[in-house]
Order: sequence, then C-alpha cells, then structure tokens
Amino acid sequence: MARMKAGEIIGIRGPFGTPWPVQEAEGNDLVIIGGGIGLAPLRPALYYTLANRSRFGKVVLLYGTRTPQDILYRKELEALRARFDLDVDVTVDRAGSDWHGDVGVVTRLIPKASFDPASTFAFICGPEVMMRFTAMALQKREVPLQNIYLTMERNMKCAIGLCGHCQMGPLFVCKDGPVFRYDRIRDIFTTREI
Ligand code: FES
Repeated sequence: MARMKAGEIIGIRGPFGTPWPVQEAEGNDLVIIGGGIGLAPLRPALYYTLANRSRFGKVVLLYGTRTPQDILYRKELEALRARFDLDVDVTVDRAGSDWHGDVGVVTRLIPKASFDPASTFAFICGPEVMMRFTAMALQKREVPLQNIYLTMERNMKCAIGLCGHCQMGPLFVCKDGPVFRYDRIRDIFTTREI
C-alpha cells in the first residue's frame, strides 16, 4: 500500500466474524486485559466503553508487555491513566532500573484489580498461553465463565469458513470467532496442537 499512487483502487472486505460483546457487557464491570500487540484489537471495545461510560460499572484495563520499550500506544495509555473513571495498570516482564512500574506477568495484576467478580465481563487478547492463564486467574476470582471472552488469531484466507486455514477443532476462527466465549472453546483451547 505504501507503494501505491494517489487514485489507485484498494479493495476492502469485511468486517468478518464476531465482535466483542460490548452491549451484552453493559450494566456490568468490565476488565480488558491485553498482552503485547494484543492490546490493538481491544481498543475498539475500550473506545466503545468510554464513549458510553455511564452504561458500565467499573472499567479496568490491564496490560502486559515484555519490556517498557514494547509498550504499545504509550502516550494514549498515559492519557488514559489520568482518567478518574478508568483503572489502568501496566506491567512488563523485565525492565531496567529506569522502570518504576509493575514487573511480572499480566495475570499478577488480576488479584488486586478493583471489580466485582460476580458482575464482571472480561475481554482478553494476547498470546494463547497468556490468555489461558488470564482466564484461569479470572476464574479464581470467580468471574462467571460465561462472561469471559477472548479473541483467537489464526492464519486466515477466505474469511468465510470455506478454506479451512483458520480451523480450530470443529470451529472456524473467521466465522465462529475470532471473539469466542471462553467456556465455548475452553476444551479446544487447552488441547495442544489444535
Ligand atoms: S479463513 Fe478460510 S475457513 Fe477461515
């Protein structure tokens, strides 16, 4: 695209698949948890929530990356941290002495995050192992399983459930996902090599 010239034509398909269930989450607390570049697909859900802030209870954004240099949207996160109606917590796996924030995996932020588990929805995006442990940590806090959602990424081609590129067990990520309710895919998700 960078090599294209003004006036050339771009074809766009989509959007495909399932979105974050933001409207279903209204009336509840919302915890958005991102790992690495997984923060990017969560931002639209966060923007919707902030644009309709009065429809939600507590809103918490937890974000983990490898190092401080890997933090995405740093300026935006700093601005979000200044809001009174949103809790933002960022952690890194490792850092030098110039980092004064949390160090450790993102799941470590969950026990101390402020939300009412019984009426909380959680949206997760990140590496699969991170999502698995995050879902487990949320269950430990007794967030209802049916309120936990995550987005799966697979190589996609046709995006309409025909080519099989994105198949995950009996499901097609392009059509049945990419956002899944955790209890719907838990068994597949925890099976290796799928
Ligand atoms: S991308 Fe072809 S089946 Fe999903």
